[in-house]
Amino acid sequence: MPTASEPRLIQQFEGAPWEIEGYLKAGGYEAWKRCVQDMKAAQIVEELKKSGLRGRGGAGFPTGVKWDKVLNHRVKERYFVCNAGEHEPGTFKDRHLLKTLPHQLIEGCLIASYTVQAKASFIYVNHEYQEERENLHKALAQAKARGILGKNVFGSGVDIDLQVFEGHGSYVAGEETAMLESMQGRPAMPRQKPPFYPTDFGLYGKPTLVNNVETLCNIPRILYKGASWFTQVGTEKCPGTMMFSLSGAVNRPGVYEMPMGVTIRELIERCSGGVPGGRKIKAVFPGGPAFSMVTADQLDLPMDFDSLKKAGTGLGSAGVIVVDDATCMVAKTLHFSNFFKGESCGQCPPCRMGTLNLAQLMAKIEEGQGTQKDLDSLLQLCGFVKGTGYCTLVTGAAVLVQSSVKLFRQEYEDHIRLQQCPYRPASVAV
Ligand SMILES: Cc1cc2nc3c(=O)[nH]c(=O)nc-3n(C[C@H](O)[C@H](O)[C@H](O)COP(=O)(O)O)c2cc1C
Repeated sequence: MPTASEPRLIQQFEGAPWEIEGYLKAGGYEAWKRCVQDMKAAQIVEELKKSGLRGRGGAGFPTGVKWDKVLNHRVKERYFVCNAGEHEPGTFKDRHLLKTLPHQLIEGCLIASYTVQAKASFIYVNHEYQEERENLHKALAQAKARGILGKNVFGSGVDIDLQVFEGHGSYVAGEETAMLESMQGRPAMPRQKPPFYPTDFGLYGKPTLVNNVETLCNIPRILYKGASWFTQVGTEKCPGTMMFSLSGAVNRPGVYEMPMGVTIRELIERCSGGVPGGRKIKAVFPGGPAFSMVTADQLDLPMDFDSLKKAGTGLGSAGVIVVDDATCMVAKTLHFSNFFKGESCGQCPPCRMGTLNLAQLMAKIEEGQGTQKDLDSLLQLCGFVKGTGYCTLVTGAAVLVQSSVKLFRQEYEDHIRLQQCPYRPASVAV
């Protein structure tokens, strides 16, 4: 079982991360070479299906199935996009991978692009990740100089190119259809689904494979070491490891690679060294602010897509945020409600108005001006807006508030009864 000190993805290669020598020495680009020289696209897809790899961008969709759909699409003009939009509070694992393993990501992208026979391929990177983009460019130049990408790679007759695309800079732009819209020079707004899934209707309306950075970093390892190696850790339905971004009330925030199914307790205690100042855990967001929180009595829950879904929450992109007992849950929830309000693209009225009204009601209660009726309206509004919208942003905003009120209702009642935040005396400025 890999631990924080013997990880699978966060390997250290010799030299600076963009320097190709260290990566080549460790067997880097061997899987890519094998793919172009010896493997048919269908074989690559079969190996991925065998590995059981599921997308690490949030939804956990089986990667092999997605690749198969694009590969076997009747439309032959296809595209490939790596999604490095990463904009959710508490998630920073893709940044870490871009920074430390640019060659592993490039290799995963090349294999993906080759397998679905993409006409053009892109890495869409969060516009704030300037250093990471520069490193990617340096790594791409080194790979090109070695004939690993470009014309006639490894003398195989295959021509392939990979372009870095500077992202739009909003949370919604990470939603795959909004990302594709923004790449076409249009506002970063999600498309209605169904029917407009990227595998059918992607970039320029053509079949497009979109995968997350971490998903793609897993590809070279699976093809180099085999699907059976990959399934040695993790759970039966969620094999492999996950990159957990740990933040909030922990001693050592950071990115930790652990097997799927690791418990929340293990992550907090073993990886990030527990909660500072001897404080107790009050709540944990296991999958970022768009999924329900869990409480201190649920720390033995396994962290994988299925177990967390069964427990009424979700893994998302594994942005684990720990909240200690000195924190006001109304204020914490308001903080994230404001995030959703600010990030709604405004396209769908229930999201545009819903996120605004949720944040306004939350602020009223936190500021000690809320009434019981406001609390009822807050919950009613959550019920109205949940499940609406072309993407899941407004659903996440509603789930956040619902779970906060469900688990910490007393704190909301106290704010209303005392007409102030009990955690913050009225004289203290926000
Ligand atoms: C509001 C919103 C933001 C998203 N942001 C990202 C993101 O930054 N990176 C990402 O890979 N997926 C993001 N997703 C999920 C993508 O739409 C898509 O499912 C994912 O890129 C597919 O890759 P995977 O199959 O490898 O997980 C987001 C989804 C939503 C609804």
